[in-house]
Amino acid sequence: MCYDDSMFLFILGRQPEIGVAELRAVFGAAELILPNVARVATDATPDIDILGGTRKVGRVIWEGAASDSGFERILFERLSALPAGKITLGVSCYGSGADAKIAMKTALSLKQKLGRSVRVLPNAAAEISDAATLGNRLGTTPHKVELMLVRAGQRLIIAELIGVQNLNAYTFRDRSRPKRDARVGMLPPKLAQIMINLARADDHSLCAPLLDPFCGTGVVLQEAALMGVGVYGSDIEPRMIEYSGKNLDWLARTHHVKFDQKLEVGDATTHTWQTPIGAVVSETYLGQPYTVQPAPKKLRQNMATCNLIIEKFLGNIAPQLTPGTPLCLAVPVWFTGGKIHHLPITSINSLPPDFEYRAGQKPLIYRRENQIVGRELLVLARRRT
Ligand SMILES: C[S@@+](CC[C@H](N)C(=O)[O-])C[C@H]1O[C@@H](n2cnc3c(N)ncnc32)[C@H](O)[C@@H]1O
Repeated sequence: MCYDDSMFLFILGRQPEIGVAELRAVFGAAELILPNVARVATDATPDIDILGGTRKVGRVIWEGAASDSGFERILFERLSALPAGKITLGVSCYGSGADAKIAMKTALSLKQKLGRSVRVLPNAAAEISDAATLGNRLGTTPHKVELMLVRAGQRLIIAELIGVQNLNAYTFRDRSRPKRDARVGMLPPKLAQIMINLARADDHSLCAPLLDPFCGTGVVLQEAALMGVGVYGSDIEPRMIEYSGKNLDWLARTHHVKFDQKLEVGDATTHTWQTPIGAVVSETYLGQPYTVQPAPKKLRQNMATCNLIIEKFLGNIAPQLTPGTPLCLAVPVWFTGGKIHHLPITSINSLPPDFEYRAGQKPLIYRRENQIVGRELLVLARRRT
């Protein structure tokens, strides 16, 4: 059994391999204890609002052998110590044997032992849904409790929820901004956050100013500004620069944030940016959008165009970056008839010599089911020598 106030559990999103890479970039280390649950030791309380790849975070309150029933006493003591007032209680279970019945049984047995006013949230599944956690404001006051029971092999870890992903806030930022354009693609704000985090410095701090040289409507810039970073956007299309400007003004007004910003029209394959540049985070040109499988010849042409733009862009920006500058680029990757088509530039041997993959970074692909064009995340650094 152990208590450790600086140990946290993270329930990862739809693509856990991306979520855990983000946690490693932010905290330096993260241990995957189940395919979708990671554990991190950190002295600072994690801020879920900046972690696009995490759905829930909890502080570990107990860990022991799964056969040890000592946790029941700990939970009882914890909840009985709360000042008078009604408790709202939800229980979420993860790992082997996790199901709705066990979760409900744990919650109801606690309620019975406590003998005080407790409202138990019904479980539709082993886990209380994110929407129910958010709607019931679990984790926001001491009386609104969600317990997370994680069984990993013969170990049981129990955490108390401290935060859930705010789906409403993401939707608001995505849908309510004044300028959107389906043609340039819709980078989900969560993915923008992940990319910004993957481009943190080696000491895990955020780098400013953060440049997006294919900024489009400005999703990356918006998320970076909210994370407290000065932003710098450029795009070949003047209309996109106007859109990004309007969206950033809207963000500053609606979210009461102040940030440095610079926007300019520029072709990323030839443009000269103002330096210094702290980090480069960008969803590059993704080529033609496809809703049906493209003919092989068309796909080859499209891939060649994208590859050329991205290769020229890297060649152009390389001398403008200080050695070590981190980059996170989302580049297109295509899925046709069971085959994956990567851009040639993503293979280690074809990466321009001024760049290298950052240590420990495996290729990460972000894609919704059945999407033909996915996004491959390249986590790079301007080579130091
Ligand atoms: C996939 S979109 C990026 C969308 C963006 N993430 C957003 O939040 O809207 C790619 C953008 O690259 C721009 N673009 C295409 N070729 C470019 C080039 N050579 N230099 C700069 N921008 C370019 C397009 O105008 C488009 O806005």
